[in-house]
Amino acid sequence: MNEMNVAREAAFKAGKLLRENLNGERQISFKGDINLVTEMDRRSEQTVVNMLLAAFPRHGVIAEEETTIQHSSGYTWIIDPLDGTTNYAHGYPCFSVSIALEHEGEIILGVVYDPMREEIFTAQKGEGAFLNGKQVRVSGVDTLLASLLATGFPYDRKESGKNNMDYFHDLLMASQEVRRDGSAALDLCTVAAGRFDGFWELKLHPWDIAAGSLIVREAGGTVSDFSGTGFTLHDKEILATNGKIHGAVLDILRTVDNARIGSSGAQAG
Ligand code: IPD
Ligand code: CA
Ligand code: CA
Repeated sequence: MNEMNVAREAAFKAGKLLRENLNGERQISFKGDINLVTEMDRRSEQTVVNMLLAAFPRHGVIAEEETTIQHSSGYTWIIDPLDGTTNYAHGYPCFSVSIALEHEGEIILGVVYDPMREEIFTAQKGEGAFLNGKQVRVSGVDTLLASLLATGFPYDRKESGKNNMDYFHDLLMASQEVRRDGSAALDLCTVAAGRFDGFWELKLHPWDIAAGSLIVREAGGTVSDFSGTGFTLHDKEILATNGKIHGAVLDILRTVDNARIGSSGAQAG
């Protein structure tokens, strides 16, 4: 059975479940003081994992909430069953289901489904990126001043000084606007579709970005860490842009880092 077809069907089924229950009563528990999880995260995960394993019993799984299955087949599904849980818990209709397939360390397939807009973003390595079956490309905006950017803030923002506030300040001042929509997987796809020109965030997990990073690349965009040198799913930073503004965003990120280092040196001295 074809991996893309099964991943799409799993995303549709889980997304329908999430959409139909958006305004219902739900149990919420907390992973931290602001990092929450609903029973819908778990039900969505069970839906996706059951469908994938029924079709591909020899594949491994890394899913956010409760499923880790290792297998020597070399194939691993990386799943965020509900990206945008805080939005979901408040009834704000911006969230997604994200499913990626890794083969020997490389993401070869990505699916991100927005069940409220009924938009499904898909990509397979080397074959382009698609929105509801139609090929998409990143935007052609070539200055930061004309760019619409997106970002997010880590859950440990109250405890950690590396909480994105300084980057946010400088990039807000340098760009046309910055959005914080609350689903990193969808933010990446929004870059792929040319609606956002760039997205950056800190401290994300592989399931937040596995599918979306492939979709951005297949749409002609650039994905890197904040040094601009490379990118792995385990990096604690991601910058995804249309490529044209990548250097300009990196310059600002570096300037902020240098100012932070300078001020901690000055304080120490
Ligand atoms: C979160 C979303 C959000 C991002 C957070 C993520 P979750 O995922 O992607 O946009 O800012 O850092 O953890 O917890 O809703 O799956
Ligand atoms: Ca997530
Ligand atoms: Ca999640």
